[in-house]
Amino acid sequence: MKLILKIFAKAPGKIIITGEHFVVHGSLALATAIDKGALVQAEAFEDIEILSKALGSYSSKKRQVPLSLKPTLEAIKATLEFIGEKKGVRVMIDSDLPVSSGLGSSSAVAVATVAAVASTLDHELSPEEMVNLAMVSERITHGRPSGIDVNVAVYGGVILFKIGEKPRQIKLDKDVEFIVCHSGIEHRTSKMVSKFSEMKKLYPNLFTSLVASSNYFTEKAAFALMNRDLTTLGAIMNFFHSVLSNFGMSTRELDQLIEKALEAGCIGAKLTGAGGGGCIIALPKSGEARVVAESLKRKGIDASIVKLPLEGVKVWQEKS
Ligand code: PMV
Repeated sequence: MKLILKIFAKAPGKIIITGEHFVVHGSLALATAIDKGALVQAEAFEDIEILSKALGSYSSKKRQVPLSLKPTLEAIKATLEFIGEKKGVRVMIDSDLPVSSGLGSSSAVAVATVAAVASTLDHELSPEEMVNLAMVSERITHGRPSGIDVNVAVYGGVILFKIGEKPRQIKLDKDVEFIVCHSGIEHRTSKMVSKFSEMKKLYPNLFTSLVASSNYFTEKAAFALMNRDLTTLGAIMNFFHSVLSNFGMSTRELDQLIEKALEAGCIGAKLTGAGGGGCIIALPKSGEARVVAESLKRKGIDASIVKLPLEGVKVWQEKS
């Protein structure tokens, strides 16, 4: 009996704790991996074939690429070219991350895909190489992404991220729990990033000082997280939500979720990711995450707990 070697790669989604949007304009941002992500299985094949329940399917024999798979296809091609392989690959994608919701679904898929494809061809990519290859996909999906999502998917844990710099890992001595609530409304990151960037033209001085404030408060938030100073962290989250909301990034639905989370006893709450739909994150008091999440669920809210820290992309083999 012939043994078939299957390669698997799993990469996490993310939440941004502070600094989204400002990060695109040079500020630091604080983000963490979450326990949902993308699982990709890859095997050597004569053509390029992609199968995904959520995104559709593609075969290089048929040529026609569904728009939803174009970013993944380009990342696969870039990986094959980078390794210098003329062979094909078959990739099967599965994900438990909701799409277009600010939880890093496209990045998790991109990172797991490039890692699995390289490993199928006996090549181990460095973290930097994974980031660069996954960014091929992210640029097609989002236009001008900062790269924060891809960096979290590769490195995992909690990271302080700034464009052009190596991400700084934040070490936590004890668990911290966040609650993620999904509005059920999808958003387009590129649209929200353009809308936010318009503010730079309208209010250049205010915009510059807010980018500096975002940088300052993100450093403070990382410090508060490390020291488990939840009161300070919650206050900083509330500050970010009010600024993002003033710049038109929130929606009625997101504001309602925030109100409900604060009513249920959370110390801070804010939108996470691009806004205009997607998710909010809320910080419960120590030891209260379960009670708060249950009470939100009873109100019909799609709430789940994220316990930090969590690992980044992982690649393994199985024989069958
Ligand atoms: O795509 P989302 O919703 O996870 O947003 C990413 C975060 C932004 O700061 C809005 C964009 C970026 O590229 O950093």
